[in-house]
Amino acid sequence: MAENQSNHVEMEKIVSLSRRRGFVFQSSEIYGPPGGCWDYGPLGVLLKNNVKQAWWQSMVQERDDVVGVDASILMNPKVWEASGHVTGFSDPMQDCMVCKMRWRPGDFEGTVCPACGGKLTEPRQFNLMFKTFMGPLEDTASVVYLRPETAQGIFTNFDNVLNTQRKKLPFGIGQIGKSFRNEITTGNFIFRSREFEQMELEYFVKPGTDEDWHAHWLKTRLEWYVSLGMKKEHLQMRDHCKEELAHYAKACADIQYLFPMGWSELEGIANRQDFDLKQHSKFSGKNLEYFDEETKERFTPYVIEPSAGVDRSVLAFMLDAYTEEPDKDEIRTVLKLHPRLAPYKAAILPLSKKEPLTTLAKEIYASLRKAWMVTYDEAQSIGRRYRRQDEIGTPYCITVDFDSLNDKMVTVRDRDTMTQDRIPIDEIKAYLFPRLKREGM
Ligand code: GAP
Repeated sequence: MAENQSNHVEMEKIVSLSRRRGFVFQSSEIYGPPGGCWDYGPLGVLLKNNVKQAWWQSMVQERDDVVGVDASILMNPKVWEASGHVTGFSDPMQDCMVCKMRWRPGDFEGTVCPACGGKLTEPRQFNLMFKTFMGPLEDTASVVYLRPETAQGIFTNFDNVLNTQRKKLPFGIGQIGKSFRNEITTGNFIFRSREFEQMELEYFVKPGTDEDWHAHWLKTRLEWYVSLGMKKEHLQMRDHCKEELAHYAKACADIQYLFPMGWSELEGIANRQDFDLKQHSKFSGKNLEYFDEETKERFTPYVIEPSAGVDRSVLAFMLDAYTEEPDKDEIRTVLKLHPRLAPYKAAILPLSKKEPLTTLAKEIYASLRKAWMVTYDEAQSIGRRYRRQDEIGTPYCITVDFDSLNDKMVTVRDRDTMTQDRIPIDEIKAYLFPRLKREGM
């Protein structure tokens, strides 16, 4: 509907669809959820895994110059001293002296507590890292942090990867994993949470080539979203001005998406220079320089870092795909996800619950599920079942009817066009394969 053309779909529509159909639930809901934590349900975990797989395929699998790691979340606390997070990873915060609520200046208007009107303390810095204790002793010597970014697990493995994979510059190390930030304010559904996932690449280059590589990654990353069906007009680049730059960055640009609350960061692409490797060399005593065999030079590589949020990507893909369109006298809700991202690639629907129709439908289901994540549904009218699949983004519905028993054919309905093709059962895989591998896969 009109809503979708101007972007945008209200956040509430996605929150409600997520809840209703099992994409995202509130964490520990039966007890009352803690703020800023979310659980992915049966459909959400499929969508999220597909987003991560698409990233991994384009950033690691299809590149000669990138390898992956999966580093631990808990690291030696010195890592965070070296990286600057212990001293610098903080946001300003004000406490309400009456109701004790905490606020981030800039998130509210006025000078008193937005909740109760109480007096606020002066702003003070609040470190966003979660602290815990490692081992049986809860003392200062055993403090460790939940990582606030996956990047440091890559930097600390730079030498291991260099030596075991015999990589030459430029090369990158990619990683997908959980990060934790004790955000002062969370909100906008899964946009800003306290536990989230990142997809990060640290791409090591020779100093002097860094600006070209930065431009390369800005372009490549923007294209990735578009290749997975995100509308170009809902994406834009925003350069950080000097005052905004993180302590390690020479330059940074955000890929922004037009979320319902306005243009907001989907991914940051920073030129971190040689800051991290130099800091880790200094704090660990380990030389993390690179030796260039050709020029016989020894130097610390620069790093370009495309850093994307899994959860923000999931949210943006859902918002972008959400469509309401007139269908006869009703409104049809369709999640027009790229087939690559769709939780189920196809739904197998026997026209009736009667035998031997269901046996045939289940045989087709058993055969297709070896190739793709597909679903089977025999409850309610066929029209309602189509609607249900449209709403969760299933690109194809395969209907098995009474004629199928004789002519060994099924009807395949396309989610977006609602056109139907009658095809032989033994050609279903050949029919779906090119369609599920649409451009950008
Ligand atoms: N290593 C660089 C880094 O972590 P960042 O801009 O702080 O940079 C990168 O984070 C991406 O991680 C963001 O663009 C966003 O997609 C995601 N992200 C950051 N904080 C988040 C939060 N509290 N909730 C959800 N996603 C978050």
